[in-house]
Amino acid sequence: MELPRLVILISGSGSNLQAILDAIEDGTITAVPSLVVSNRQKAYGLVRAEQAGVPTAYFPFKPYRDAGKAREQYDADLAELIRPYRPDLIILAGWMHILSAAFLKHFPNKVINLHPALPGQFAGTHAIQRAYEAYQRGEIDHTGCMVHLTIPEVDAGPVIAQAEVPILPEDSLADLEARMHQTEHGLLVTAVRRVLAEH
Ligand code: GAR
Repeated sequence: MELPRLVILISGSGSNLQAILDAIEDGTITAVPSLVVSNRQKAYGLVRAEQAGVPTAYFPFKPYRDAGKAREQYDADLAELIRPYRPDLIILAGWMHILSAAFLKHFPNKVINLHPALPGQFAGTHAIQRAYEAYQRGEIDHTGCMVHLTIPEVDAGPVIAQAEVPILPEDSLADLEARMHQTEHGLLVTAVRRVLAEH
């Protein structure tokens, strides 16, 4: 039987990519990491992928923006880049570019996104910082993270897995970020296992 193929999209440190690679390595996830794509050249996740022997691609949006091309053109070309890898699952693991239907229509129900907030809260960038500030204002007493199916709307879509992350009175923002990332690493592995089990 052919193993399911994963394509992982990143923009940064790639600690969540690492969690997936480690889970594949130790047999927790049964799949092949076929490709890692970054839209940022300096993303450390590219180094992690290379160290694990996973093919990488750097695919920046800037040349499209500079040429006055539409986001949809970038999204369509990104889909063309990924298509030959025949992914069973595409994982947005810290991918900081909003994907339109021009990308998503090529991979229906196959794109999942990790977001460091609970459903309906703090969509978009700086979600952890915004939760931290909301806590300081007494508006929330905890935050969380989720993995959801990607739809053409930012950080929303049917939830596959979610976890609460407590905020403690003595927390610095860095403390909360560290607790969030630790929770995310476990949650993402759980979500990938869940999706592949239904595959
Ligand atoms: C993670 O916290 C992820 O939830 C967040 O980017 C970080 C990537 O960390 N994603 C979003 O905010 C998406 N809206 P990593 O590069 O170390 O995996």
